[in-house]
Amino acid sequence: MKTRTPIFIYITAAVISIVIIFQMSADADYLRSPYFWGLTVSVVLLLLIMDAISDLVENDNFKNLSDEEKRAFLKERSIPYFQRLWQSAFRRQSPTEEKEILIDHGFDGITELDNALPKWWLGLFYFTMVSCAVYLIAFAFTDYAHPDVEFRDENKMALASIKAYEKTAPVVDLQSAVYNADLIAEGEQIFKTNCVSCHSEGGKGGIGPNLTDKNWINIKQKSLFKNVFWMLENGSPNNPAMRPFIKDGTITGRDAEKVAAYIYHINREKSPIAQAEGGAAPQGEVADWQE
Ligand code: HEC
Repeated sequence: MKTRTPIFIYITAAVISIVIIFQMSADADYLRSPYFWGLTVSVVLLLLIMDAISDLVENDNFKNLSDEEKRAFLKERSIPYFQRLWQSAFRRQSPTEEKEILIDHGFDGITELDNALPKWWLGLFYFTMVSCAVYLIAFAFTDYAHPDVEFRDENKMALASIKAYEKTAPVVDLQSAVYNADLIAEGEQIFKTNCVSCHSEGGKGGIGPNLTDKNWINIKQKSLFKNVFWMLENGSPNNPAMRPFIKDGTITGRDAEKVAAYIYHINREKSPIAQAEGGAAPQGEVADWQE
């Protein structure tokens, strides 16, 4: 008669599986969910009941063993489980045992041992099959683990958190906007999204004027940075193509601060893109910016 796997192994494996399932599918707070605890407690109870029944069966079978078998069984059971497991890895089959599981092909003279697969291996094998089926069904018919749905949810959350931030963050306006070199890179991205269609890459000019040279059509502020911000807030008084991006809600004051930093950078800190390099011809008068 074989010794049984101790109950604590089953319980540990079951609890770990339940945790993995909840970790994968439920929200982060599953430790407070009654389903989690309900399932865990019922599974543990079931396992304990199963173990008690197996105990009864084992006792019954034990009575029918011969004295020698009884002694062998008790001896084996006295060895701790993990030690037994370790030893079983090196155990050799006795010749009689081997004879029982020997398959003889006959035609090619090769013989092989038809060993039973280890229980843990079979368990894992069935587990993968079941989880594959569950996953496929969940993927096909529910929102679980669906990339589109995950993207939509995360996008919604990101937009909501931006909205919440905008609500509490201080408003950046013409008075409070300041040049900050750290904003140039972000400003460039905003420029690429909103402005490049008219002002071309690097602000060299196209439908809209060249933003890298010294000539300006609209000089509304003393500083270049504030002048750009002014344009973004009010748009051009002469040409409706240059819209009031802030007022019409296309960009926020914070974005305008960034994009103005970028324009300041390409205008004051880099050399102008001349006509010979594909820049648009200068328009307006030479501006004498104070900063
Ligand atoms: C639909 C085309 C268009 C888009 C998009 C556009 N602009 Fe303009 N922009 C213009 C035109 C046209 C002018 C010239 C207005 C005028 O003649 O007064 C201009 C003028 C300007 C000026 C003043 C230049 C000067 O010489 O007076 C600045 C600064 C400017 N735009 C920045 C931007 C920024 C930053 C963006 C992106 C947020 C942007 N523009 C998007 C068409 C556009």
